[in-house]
Amino acid sequence: RADVVINGSSSPAVVDRSNESMKHNLQPGSSKWRHNQTLSLRIRKQILKFLDAEKDISVLKGTLKPGDIIHYIFDRDSTMNVSQNLYELLPRTSPLKNRHFQTCAIVGNSGVLLNSSCGQEIDRHSFVIRCNLAPVQEYARDVGLKTDLVTMNPSVIQRAFEDLVNATWREKLLQRLHSLNGSILWIPAFMARGGKERVEWVNELILKHRVNVRTAYPSLRLLHAVRGYWLTNKVHIKRPTTGLLMYTLATRFCNQIDLYGFWPFPLDQSQNPVKYHYYDSLKYGYTSQASPHTMPLEFKALKSLHEQGALKLTVGQCD
Ligand code: CTP
Repeated sequence: RADVVINGSSSPAVVDRSNESMKHNLQPGSSKWRHNQTLSLRIRKQILKFLDAEKDISVLKGTLKPGDIIHYIFDRDSTMNVSQNLYELLPRTSPLKNRHFQTCAIVGNSGVLLNSSCGQEIDRHSFVIRCNLAPVQEYARDVGLKTDLVTMNPSVIQRAFEDLVNATWREKLLQRLHSLNGSILWIPAFMARGGKERVEWVNELILKHRVNVRTAYPSLRLLHAVRGYWLTNKVHIKRPTTGLLMYTLATRFCNQIDLYGFWPFPLDQSQNPVKYHYYDSLKYGYTSQASPHTMPLEFKALKSLHEQGALKLTVGQCD
């Protein structure tokens, strides 16, 4: 068997191979996992043929001006005008320019993080990426606190902040943004027309309250480029998830990449139920035809990379 690991898992006996999560079990024993530096560098080189994270992480100020028209990536017939606020928040230079890190953690949002005690281990990484403004304070023991980059799909404003219907929700979002304290806030603003107003609300809040975050808005080509890379490697994803986007970008500036909270299955390795998100009551939806994501397929690809030492997946407890 491949020498793969999960931290601290009490080696589950494989009983029912037809069970979805069972098929994805990782072998226990974190001491056996070895980083394959050569493979990581090869992957970085291959991905660079499709995209350059340093550039594609954000559209820059010099390339747009207020009033410019942008076609949404998934709704080509719908357009948006670059507002004055958006223009003001575009970075002048890439937030990742010339940046390199020895270790990066990418924290997905699976409930598998609950009771993992991974917080300290995650926080020890030189660069920590989180997804969709997931809360950290109340879950610090399991997910850590350090945040260098956090993504925010516009849908988060609806799902976690009640579309800012009143002052209480606006204040909640504001507090969350203030707590980012200088880190990069990555907002996919040009994906779907549904996010139009939500992006504008957030931009306005940031400017009005002088929130200390470094905003970034992914390039128009990023999504197709990422999809292209994975398709070329025979991973037939419909629309890459935020987690996969982050991994693909991170290969450019991270030496070793460790993934936490990636587990798109309702049962863990010991057959205990796992929440879809560690922090809310959202249910599993990825199996439905309507879902744009193909998370189990992505997971299979990530697991294979884990087995080859290109990245490290932790889906159990940390030591
Ligand atoms: N993830 C996972 N298993 C889960 C939940 C999330 O592996 N049970 C990973 C996915 O890579 C996902 C990332 O964690 O992209 C962040 O989770 P989430 O906020 O749910 O991201 P998306 O599904 O990409 O966001 P959206 O639904 O807004 O597209």
